Amino acid sequence: MKSLSLSLLLLLFTASRSSCGALEIPLEKRGSCRNVPGSPGYPTAAAWDAFNATISGRLVTVVPSAKFCTTLPGGACTDAQWSSAVFRNTIPGAMSGVNFEQGYGLTPPSLCLRNATTCGQGDVPIYSVEAETVEDIQAAVKFASANNLRVAVKASGHDMIGRSTAPQSLLIRTTNLRNISFIDAFQDMGSAVTVGSGVPFQTLFQQAKASGRAVVGPSVATICGAGGYVQGAGHSYLSPKFGLAADNALEFNIVVSSGELLKVNSVSNPDLFYALRGGGAGSWGVITSVTFKTFPTFNATATSITLAASNTTQMRALAVAHAEHVFALDPVGSGHFFITEKNPAGGFVVILLSSVLGTPSETMTLLGPFMDAALEIPGVSLVSQQYTDLDVNDSLFKPDDSAGSNAIEGSRFITADTYRNSPTKVGQVYEELLNSGTEMCRFEIVVGGGKVSENANISSAVHPGWRTAKTLFLVVNSWEDSASLDEIDALRHKFQTQQLPIIEQISGPNAGTYSNEADGFEPEFQTTFFGPNYAKLSGIKAKYDPQDLLIVGGGVGSERWDQWGLCRV
Ligand SMILES: Cc1cc2nc3c(=O)[nH]c(=O)nc-3n(C[C@H](O)[C@H](O)[C@H](O)COP(=O)(O)OP(=O)(O)OC[C@H]3O[C@@H](n4cnc5c(N)ncnc54)[C@H](O)[C@@H]3O)c2cc1C
Ligand SMILES: *[C@@H]1O[C@H](CO)[C@@H](O)[C@H](O)[C@H]1NC(C)=O
Ligand SMILES: *[C@@H]1O[C@H](CO)[C@@H](O)[C@H](O)[C@H]1NC(C)=O
Ligand SMILES: *[C@@H]1O[C@H](CO)[C@@H](O)[C@H](O)[C@H]1NC(C)=O
Ligand SMILES: *[C@@H]1O[C@H](CO)[C@@H](O)[C@H](O)[C@H]1NC(C)=O
Ligand SMILES: *[C@@H]1O[C@H](CO)[C@@H](O)[C@H](O)[C@H]1NC(C)=O
Ligand SMILES: *[C@@H]1O[C@H](CO)[C@@H](O)[C@H](O)[C@H]1NC(C)=O
Ligand SMILES: *[C@@H]1O[C@H](CO)[C@@H](O)[C@H](O)[C@H]1NC(C)=O
Repeated sequence: MKSLSLSLLLLLFTASRSSCGALEIPLEKRGSCRNVPGSPGYPTAAAWDAFNATISGRLVTVVPSAKFCTTLPGGACTDAQWSSAVFRNTIPGAMSGVNFEQGYGLTPPSLCLRNATTCGQGDVPIYSVEAETVEDIQAAVKFASANNLRVAVKASGHDMIGRSTAPQSLLIRTTNLRNISFIDAFQDMGSAVTVGSGVPFQTLFQQAKASGRAVVGPSVATICGAGGYVQGAGHSYLSPKFGLAADNALEFNIVVSSGELLKVNSVSNPDLFYALRGGGAGSWGVITSVTFKTFPTFNATATSITLAASNTTQMRALAVAHAEHVFALDPVGSGHFFITEKNPAGGFVVILLSSVLGTPSETMTLLGPFMDAALEIPGVSLVSQQYTDLDVNDSLFKPDDSAGSNAIEGSRFITADTYRNSPTKVGQVYEELLNSGTEMCRFEIVVGGGKVSENANISSAVHPGWRTAKTLFLVVNSWEDSASLDEIDALRHKFQTQQLPIIEQISGPNAGTYSNEADGFEPEFQTTFFGPNYAKLSGIKAKYDPQDLLIVGGGVGSERWDQWGLCRV
């Protein structure tokens, strides 16, 4: 998105300083901007009340999570609450990553930090429709459209580029849509499950298992499959075996910008079916449910191996060893993560997580050559090796995950050919990233190949880069609340300025990436996130959302809007 015009910036400056100040859109901008409080077209209090009545009183005012916490009995959230994704999801304005609630881009920045004495609304919406029915969503979409409001849509709030929040907006939250229904034969496509767009994976995994089924799901079970996950593509430890989540989506129910509820599948609205599978989260309408293919359950063992390295030279060698053996688990169709973090005791720790369709002994046999190579590196040691029997312990997918901190990401697909031909370059990239002060984790998310590659001929908007990728290579940049605004600004741009040039040595200069786990400042998001599919997606967008009611950063059509989605550029 292009930057905001100076005049609006000045207005936002004024607005962000007074909590109830009116934000006026300059005359020349009217008609090309959303209505915000103070705009002549913004709904009156009476109009909001009348709207609230049509949705059974499910309209709430929204505040940043730090402010919400001060309203709790006792006057604060406990640390455990603050950092619980499940708890945060009970707060309409909360994002899993609290940095996405902050208005860093405003002048001056509008922040609401935990325990701070002042609180700006930042990038947090004004109102939320806490939808419980399809009709609530239809009413909200129609009201927003009729009043030219900025709309945000949120299921779990896990979005890593902040697309489920927006300043001055009306939020439509689908967290309460928790229906799950299993189907033995969905058309001629076998067993399936229909899940509401508020169902977290933990619930789905448990109910699926109880009915003898497995579903493709992420590494964190508080994410909603029928929200952003599937629209981005949805990768899983099970992807090499069963494909991406988008590959397994059979049907969507979605309220589009006209307010109409559409059934979308390969026969009904097939163009929208194409877009909803990989064409980017939050750009097509408000999904109420998705039907996913299911598979018979199987016994699986999650293996977690932790290795320690004490300097970047060792880390480089370890990354080379991993790159050379990155195909080791292919025979059992398992994806895994290779995660490098700073070791509080000095040096680095690498956590290799895998979920395989075999026993611990099968896994260790397959990983044996990697382990041998790793432990031959002088200074590298084995910290621990753990196995979790997924059949006994439900899943490696814990019921909650850690949230409430400040982090952003950047990423690129790395092809299988790169690993085959240049594993040493992968190690070099690690060393350069570490030496250039990349503080946080680097992940190689190994979920390409197998069924993900075999599914290349499915006609969907999934970025074709997935089909030749072996991994998604990802860096995380994070900070504490005590960081200065200059430090934060540098970190927010670090991926583009410092890290991407290093990663391009293995990804190539025009590689794509996964829009759900990426940098929000990708200058050419159209090709980086959507590859050759962008033109087709733009046409589908124009058909189903001619008003651009649903605009998200890095989403289809967002090039027509400023970075807040408030004014056309
Ligand atoms: C800790 C962590 C681990 C992760 N692990 C994985 C992983 O293993 N595999 C993987 O593929 N991804 C993973 N992700 C990324 C994840 O896929 C994205 O964060 C995804 O956007 C989450 O979707 P959500 O709907 O739950 O989140 P939200 O923040 O609620 O929404 C994300 C996006 O979807 C849109 N959206 C939400 N609900 C709806 C709806 N009902 N209708 C239309 N649009 C909607 C929002 O507008 C936004 O654009 C992980 C993220 C985190 C934070
Ligand atoms: C909407 O109506 C409910 C029920 O009357 C009320 O509790 C709630 O405060 C109203 N929301 C707003 C934003 O006024
Ligand atoms: C904020 O206050 C809580 C509770 O008083 C405390 O536990 C927490 O550490 C504080 N957090 C920060 C970021 O200062
Ligand atoms: C959830 O299921 C119930 C019972 O079948 C149904 O009445 C309701 O409409 C469903 N809700 C949504 C949002 O689909
Ligand atoms: C899974 O393991 C259990 C216990 O070892 C066994 O009884 C069961 O038959 C196994 N299931 C499959 C599908 O192999
Ligand atoms: C890293 O550790 C190895 C093994 O202990 C040592 O040989 C090497 O000199 C170290 N490299 C650096 C840059 O410190
Ligand atoms: C199951 O989980 C419990 C508690 O985390 C753990 O103690 C136990 O070893 C696990 N069992 C298996 C078979 O993984
Ligand atoms: C993909 O192509 C192969 C070979 O042409 C075919 O067997 C397979 O059915 C196709 N798969 C899909 C999902 O279209």
